[in-house]
Amino acid sequence: MKKLIRNLTETYGPSGNEARVRQLIEEEVRPLSDQVRVDSMGNLIALKEGDGSGRKVMLAAHMDEIGVIVTHVDEKGFLRFGAVGGLRPLVLIGSRVLFANGVTGTIGVEKLDSPDKVPSLDKLYIDVGAVSKDTLSVGVGDAACFVRPFVDQGNRLTAKAFDDRIGCAILIQSLRTLADSPHDVYFVFTVQEEVGLRGARTSAYGVDPDVGIAVDVTTTGDTPEAHPMAVSLGNGPAIKVKDSGMLTHPGVKNLLIDTAERLGLPYQIEVLERGTTDGDAMQVSRAGVPTGVISIATRYVHTPSEMLDYNDVLNSVKLLEGLLSNPIELA
Ligand code: CO
Ligand code: ZN
Repeated sequence: MKKLIRNLTETYGPSGNEARVRQLIEEEVRPLSDQVRVDSMGNLIALKEGDGSGRKVMLAAHMDEIGVIVTHVDEKGFLRFGAVGGLRPLVLIGSRVLFANGVTGTIGVEKLDSPDKVPSLDKLYIDVGAVSKDTLSVGVGDAACFVRPFVDQGNRLTAKAFDDRIGCAILIQSLRTLADSPHDVYFVFTVQEEVGLRGARTSAYGVDPDVGIAVDVTTTGDTPEAHPMAVSLGNGPAIKVKDSGMLTHPGVKNLLIDTAERLGLPYQIEVLERGTTDGDAMQVSRAGVPTGVISIATRYVHTPSEMLDYNDVLNSVKLLEGLLSNPIELA
C-alpha cells in the first residue's frame, strides 16, 4: 500500500486540475469495479455491486490538493499568485511549487516593512528562474502545487497532499480487499473539495446514497504547544462527531464505534474546531443523507510536509471493511 501512497501523493493535482490523479486512480479501480464513470464535474465514481440485500453506500475521498494560481506576470517574469484552497503564507516562503508542464518555482518574498509580522499573500511571488516575461511557459491562470518527495520512516509517513490522497489510498485499498458486501458501494473520488466541497455536492446528488462516509485528514493536538485537541497520531481512526461544517449523524457515528469495538480496533473521537470535509456536502444532499467521517490524524495539514501514522491508515481500511461486510442498521 505504501507504493500506492507514494504515487498518489507525488502526483500533481491542485483543485480543478485533478486529471492526473484521476487517471492513476482509474487504473487501480477499473479492474476491481462493476462500473466506473466520470461525471461532468470530474468526479470518479466506481461501483462495486452488493448481493441486493444491502444499502447504497457512498464513500468519498477528494483527489484535489491545495495550491497556487498565477494572477499576474511582471516584465522580469516574476509571478504573483492567489490561493487555491486554504494556503498559509507562513509556510510558503522558500517552498517549491510545480506547474502542470513541469516548470518548478520557488516562492520568494518582497522586502517587508514589518519583518516580524507574517506577510500576506500579495507580498509573495513565484520565481521560476525566468530571464524575461517573453520566454515564460507558464502564465495567468496556471495552477501549481507543492513539490515534495514521500518519506517513509516506518510508521510515520510524511508527504505533501496527504490531504486527501491518503483518503483516496484508503478507498482503493478497501476496494482491493473487500470480498463480499451486501451493499452497493460507490467509491467516489471527488474534485474541488479544497475550494468548497463542490465535487461531493454533485456526486452525492447523482449517487443518491442511503448512507455516506467521507474519509479525510484531521488536525491533531499532539505537537509542542498545540491548540488543545483530543486527536493524536497512532491512536487509531478518528471518528468525527463535529467539525465546522457538520454534526455527524448519530446512527452512523455509533455504527463506526460499534464496528471498531467489535473488531478490536483502536479509535479516537474527533471534534474539529476549524475545517470540514466532503461529509458536510453529502449530509445535506437532496433530502439529507445520514453521513459520518473517518479521519486520519495528520500533523501540519495544508503545509508541504503533512505527517501521519501508517497504523491509522491500515486500521481505517479494516474499519471500512468491517462496516461494509455487515448489514447496516442506523439506530
Ligand atoms: Co484540506
Ligand atoms: Zn481534505
